Amino acid sequence: MGTAVITGANRGLGAEWVSQLIEQGWTVYAGYRSDMGRLDSLACDALSTHQLDVQDRASVQAFADAAPAKIDLLVNNAGVADGRWRNISEIDDVWALEVIDINALGPVRVVQALYGKMNHNSLTKVAMVSSLMASIDDCHMGRSYAYRASKTALNMFTVSMKKEAIEDQISFVILHPGWVKTSMGGDRAPVEIPDSVKGMRNVVDALTLETSGRFIQFDGELLPW
Ligand SMILES: NC(=O)c1ccc[n+]([C@@H]2O[C@H](COP(=O)([O-])OP(=O)(O)OC[C@H]3O[C@@H](n4cnc5c(N)ncnc54)[C@H](OP(=O)(O)O)[C@@H]3O)[C@@H](O)[C@H]2O)c1
Repeated sequence: MGTAVITGANRGLGAEWVSQLIEQGWTVYAGYRSDMGRLDSLACDALSTHQLDVQDRASVQAFADAAPAKIDLLVNNAGVADGRWRNISEIDDVWALEVIDINALGPVRVVQALYGKMNHNSLTKVAMVSSLMASIDDCHMGRSYAYRASKTALNMFTVSMKKEAIEDQISFVILHPGWVKTSMGGDRAPVEIPDSVKGMRNVVDALTLETSGRFIQFDGELLPW
């Protein structure tokens, strides 16, 4: 297997990534913002944990400095929803910038800080956890202004970074986890957390340098931009 890094690992999809990767034999380095949450119950020799706020460059650098020397998989999972503002006049520009800072720039900061540990003589995979709500082609319902914009920006950062990273044998995949029953997805979501993560793991397993930069749903379906 190898060493995997997961952000936003204390609950929801992130904690499930940790659980399934350890089960598969990976060594996992997991980031939590403030509360260890489910990471406490996952404690074992294969797991190490470190505080990480992806919005804070100093926190990201300290997380990266303490990370294992060679990383084979990075799952940039941490993210926030927006205020679900009901109309244009309600968009809160201060919070909108925070959402974009966390969801679009946060993963970029993590990639930058860990790049030296991902750039080695074998393939490294980077999963960017985006959303179907990033898709401009699929934006039929509108709303969720900042969340959509943040994930669309994340997609473009990723496709742009992929060009440079291919030379260093680093391959990216942009993932939509499905609409999943987490605190973000809510109780009405049709997809269970373990099924989403199992599907995303299959997509990551199939990733090569040649397929870097694709936008793919947890069940393997290629998504429109
Ligand atoms: N659930 C869905 O239906 C769905 C659909 C599409 C995409 N996604 C994406 O999937 C990812 C995981 O979502 P989820 O459903 O598991 O949501 P969740 O249960 O709300 O978990 C979000 C995670 O991100 C962490 N986080 C938020 N801001 C952070 C920051 N500044 N620094 C570090 N960690 C931070 C949270 O930490 P705290 O506990 O400290 O808040 C938490 O661990 C997100 O990127 C989300 O946009 C989810």
